[in-house]
This record gives sequence, structure tokens and C-alpha cells, in this order.
Amino acid sequence: MTVYLDHAATTPLRPEALEAMLPFLTEHFGNPSGSHAVSRAARTAVDEARDVVAECLGCQPGEVIFTGTGTEADNLAIAGVVARRAGRVVCTAIEHHAVLHTVQALRGDVVPVHPTGRVDLDALAAALGPDVSVVSVMLANNEIGVIQSLAEVTAVVVEHAPEAVVHTDAVQALPWLDVATAAAGADLVAVSAHKFGGPKGVGALVARSGVRLAPILHGGGQERDRRSGTHNVAGIVGMAAAMRATVAERELSVARVGARRDRLADALVAALPGTVETGDRAEKVAGSCHLRFGGIESEALLVLLDDAGVCASAGSACASGAMEPSHVLAAIGVGRAEARSSVRFSLGATTTDDEVDLAVKVVVEAVAHLREG
Ligand SMILES: Cc1ncc(COP(=O)(O)O)c(C=O)c1O
Repeated sequence: MTVYLDHAATTPLRPEALEAMLPFLTEHFGNPSGSHAVSRAARTAVDEARDVVAECLGCQPGEVIFTGTGTEADNLAIAGVVARRAGRVVCTAIEHHAVLHTVQALRGDVVPVHPTGRVDLDALAAALGPDVSVVSVMLANNEIGVIQSLAEVTAVVVEHAPEAVVHTDAVQALPWLDVATAAAGADLVAVSAHKFGGPKGVGALVARSGVRLAPILHGGGQERDRRSGTHNVAGIVGMAAAMRATVAERELSVARVGARRDRLADALVAALPGTVETGDRAEKVAGSCHLRFGGIESEALLVLLDDAGVCASAGSACASGAMEPSHVLAAIGVGRAEARSSVRFSLGATTTDDEVDLAVKVVVEAVAHLREG
């Protein structure tokens, strides 16, 4: 049996998404930008998906821009605003690389966070000024799960950089938080379908009306000239179906998954002395369990877990597969050696009690084995 505890990396496709997608991978293959009947069927599907996404995210359909990925949505938000209004960009030190590297490429400023993972609002205020055009603060972190208060962030931005727009990367938040409410104060909100049971390779950016955004992809002028490129119709339809189902089940899922996460973390901390849990559970999304197993190398532990069928990860998955020390753990003050002993278990809506119990058994045996060795 495979125990998949890496839902922050990606999630299994929800049946609702697959079912919604299939017709658009087969008979309804039209290009929604065309004018004949086959195109119109595809366009109607994209329009309906846009309505669903807008409802789930608390915005107008015209404010939804479909993108190729969450990464693209983050890039479009930041680079797209800067292209219209030159200015400094600011983000937190624990952003996903889709934001952090974009901000660094624009020579922006990176603001520290507290050891809890919450952004240091005094440091944020100090970094702001009339020259700032974008402030990017993620809603939930992909490694340690910490949730930011965007209401507090927005209040600081309004006071110290009233002309700036606020962008939030809500990619990890959507399965667990009411993004429509939590990100109500943000001008730009990025999501990615494959983190909530949709397909890979499709995302969305909410850009509130009034936000001046230049495209970063030029071409056929789709998405009202904000994102060129033929629509991934099946992907968009699948994302909308997965989002609708996720949002409808969210409250129940948060309670269930949160209880399983607690069961996993409590059992491992109790069975393995020297194990430290990262972050305060009350400030984290329900699926996130990040542990540091003192004295072991997570790389070796992950190999043993993989052999035993348990899929977890060391911090964020990196395209190169290289084990870079996590910038998130460094930002919250975790030393290099301790950071290298950390494993992220991320639970999802499909995780069961039996899987949690099996994972506990496997992890306890593997850590004991490594400590003996
Ligand atoms: C917080 C966060 N932002 C952005 C992304 C990028 O999304 P995508 O995989 O769709 O490019 C991820 C994916 O890991 C993420 O966790």
C-alpha cells in the first residue's frame, strides 16, 4: 500500500474534475477563440468555469484570468503590475520561489518573518514607501503551513504605501481556507488547480478591476489581452469542478484532516524523543505537519520511507532534485543542520486513519533504524 502524504506537492485528480474534463479531451475539442459551433461549445465551457471560479474566490467573472500554472499567475501578478507602473516590489522571506525569484529578478526587497512564520509587520512597514508598486504576501506557506493575516498586512500597506497593490499567493490555502474572505483585501490572488484535486498545468489569477496589469505573454490576446495563448479548456473545466467540490466540502475536510494531522504529529512526537514540530498548529493549515527529527538526515529517512511506501518530502520539491537548505526554515531561524533533519508530511482530503497509523509505524521504525546506525 502506498501512503501518500505529499499533498502540498500535488493532489490526486478528483473524480468530479476527471468527469468534467473528459468531454473536452474527446468530442468537444474546439478552440474557444473561434466563431463556429465547435468553438462556441468550448467557449461556453470556459465561461461557465469562470463563473464557478469567480464565485468560489469572491470576485467578478471578468476579474478571473486563466493561466498555465500557479507559477505563471504569481509572475503575471508581480511583473504585470510593475510593467504598468514602475516601482519597488516587496515580499516576505518565506514566499514560494514563484514569488521570491520574481521579486529578486526585479531587485525587490525581502521582508523577514517572526520565528512563528508570521510576517514581521514592523519590518514590512519599514520596507514600504510611496515608491512601492507591489507587496506580495502568501496566504499559506507550502513548507510549514503557516497562515498569514492578510487583513493586518493590508492595513500596513494602506498606511505606508497607499498606491501599492497587494498580491497573495493562495495556492496552498485553497483546500483549507475560505480564500474569498481571507484574501478579500488583496488586489491580486493566485491559485493552482493541482493543489486541490484539479489537473496540473492550469491556474488562475484574480485581478480586481482597477488593477492595471500588463500581459507577460504576448500573442492572440486571449483573456481580454491579459494572457495570450489558447485556453487549456479541459484543464480550466477540471479546475472549476475541483474548486467547486473542494469549497463545498472544505469545512468538513478541515475538521477531518486536521484531526488526522494531529494524530500523526502527536504519535510521532510521543514515540520519537527529540522530535520538534515546526510552527503552531493553530496558525497552520489543517493538512500541514512539519517535523524535525533531531540527529538524522531527512534525505536518508525519505529513502527508507519511500522503500516502505510512504511518500513525504523534505521541504519544498525542487525541480533539480537538489537538496538545497530550505529558505523558509532559515527565515524562521532554524539552523542548517536542524533544517536538514526535517520532513514535511502533507495530508489531503483522501488521507485515511489507516494511512496515518501505517505512516506512524513506518516513520518510527525508520528513525529508530537511522539513529541506531
Ligand atoms: C505556495 C505555492 N505557490 C506557487 C506554486 C506553483 O504552482 P504551480 O505548480 O501550479 O506552478 C506552488 C507549488 O508548489 C506553491 O506551493
